[in-house]
Amino acid sequence: MGDAGRTVVDVPRIDKGLDNVYVKETSICFVDGVRGRLLYRGYDIRDLADHSSFEETAFLLLWGRLPNREELARIRADLGAARAVPPAVLASLRRMPKDAAPMDVLRTAVSLLGMHDGDRGDASPEANRRRAVRLLGSVATIVAAYHRIRSGARLVKPDPARAHADDFLRMVTGTRPGASQTRVMDVALILYADHSMNASTFAATVAASTLSDLTSTIVAAIAALKGPLHGGAIEAAFEALRFIGRPEAAEAYVLDVLGRHGKVFGFGHRVYKTYDPRALIFQRIAKELSEAAGDPDLYRVADVVQETVVRELRAKHIFPNVDFYSGLVFHYLGLPPDLATAIFAMSRTAGWAAHVIEYWEDNRILRPLDHYVGPTDALYVPLEDRS
Ligand SMILES: CC(C)(COP(=O)(O)OP(=O)(O)OC[C@H]1O[C@@H](n2cnc3c(N)ncnc32)[C@H](O)[C@@H]1OP(=O)(O)O)[C@@H](O)C(=O)NCCC(=O)NCCS
Repeated sequence: MGDAGRTVVDVPRIDKGLDNVYVKETSICFVDGVRGRLLYRGYDIRDLADHSSFEETAFLLLWGRLPNREELARIRADLGAARAVPPAVLASLRRMPKDAAPMDVLRTAVSLLGMHDGDRGDASPEANRRRAVRLLGSVATIVAAYHRIRSGARLVKPDPARAHADDFLRMVTGTRPGASQTRVMDVALILYADHSMNASTFAATVAASTLSDLTSTIVAAIAALKGPLHGGAIEAAFEALRFIGRPEAAEAYVLDVLGRHGKVFGFGHRVYKTYDPRALIFQRIAKELSEAAGDPDLYRVADVVQETVVRELRAKHIFPNVDFYSGLVFHYLGLPPDLATAIFAMSRTAGWAAHVIEYWEDNRILRPLDHYVGPTDALYVPLEDRS
């Protein structure tokens, strides 16, 4: 029944937050919120973090299987080539305000990229997979280049021969990262690459369902990712750690936030009712990096925050999520905190694209309803008669 058939006296059940609403079948990603497991195409995230690379994981998400040697070499080369973004997009980055939020810059730049897409007319799944790889490459360069520009530093040209994580770190910092830093970056990109029908993937899917183009769906996803209840939580969580400063102040901080019925960023999840497996991996890495850096204080602050939140909110099933320790990991890698959500987007583009391509296999426009509770007999008053 269309809207016209409804009357305002119907009182439907409202699914605020869309909990327990399924919009498609998927074979991309499974989140087991009870046992704390995450699978990409059936593979456990812990195995992928131990053994895979971002290139391999992106191929897995987009093509549905692990690549053979030749396919892996191809996606590495394609991603490397795609890091060379169109000069017009780089020029536009130079014109953006130097104090703009990196996520705003990214959203705008990806929108521009869509207009420089050479094969705009081809919407086949294979063309979209190729387009997704091009977007993955370009997004990394955009994030790095904007940071260099706003810092007044010279741009570092992408090197197509390098692995994606390695080249990204080099393009941001201007120095060649060590093997262990590159591995940490690679693992971070793997951990963020997909997470089922979360808010940004849903935003991408809504845009996709109208048969919009792939790049537009990624723009919609970036817009949704930005908020602090979603990807923006990384920065908010890290800023809280910096604000707390000392491990001895951490417990009081948490109790104060909870006492005011506030939220501690980096905790809680719609699906996980236990530890997010990605948070546990990031926690271990953050601990190792903090020890290697001889700078353990922020890590200790994080651990006290974590212990306090879990102790206080266990009954509500609130545990650390992926965004709690990842900001610390980026910090120890020498990356500025406000790039964190854009780095998340740089990786998640793989998952967004995979879900959109999957949705298009059996597309139906997403068009929910809202229950009208406003007036039904308002009398139009001419402007001159209004007080
Ligand atoms: C992720 C999140 C948006 C999920 O939201 P949700 O499924 O709608 O859950 P709710 O916000 O309704 O939370 C359920 C209960 O747990 C509490 N809660 C949830 N997350 C909390 C947090 N981070 N800190 C303190 N309390 C929290 C809520 O206050 C609520 O308590 P109540 O039932 O007494 O009102 C939510 O946990 C949150 O805002 N977390 C902080 C932001 C964040 O880290 N986002 C990244 C997600 S990966």
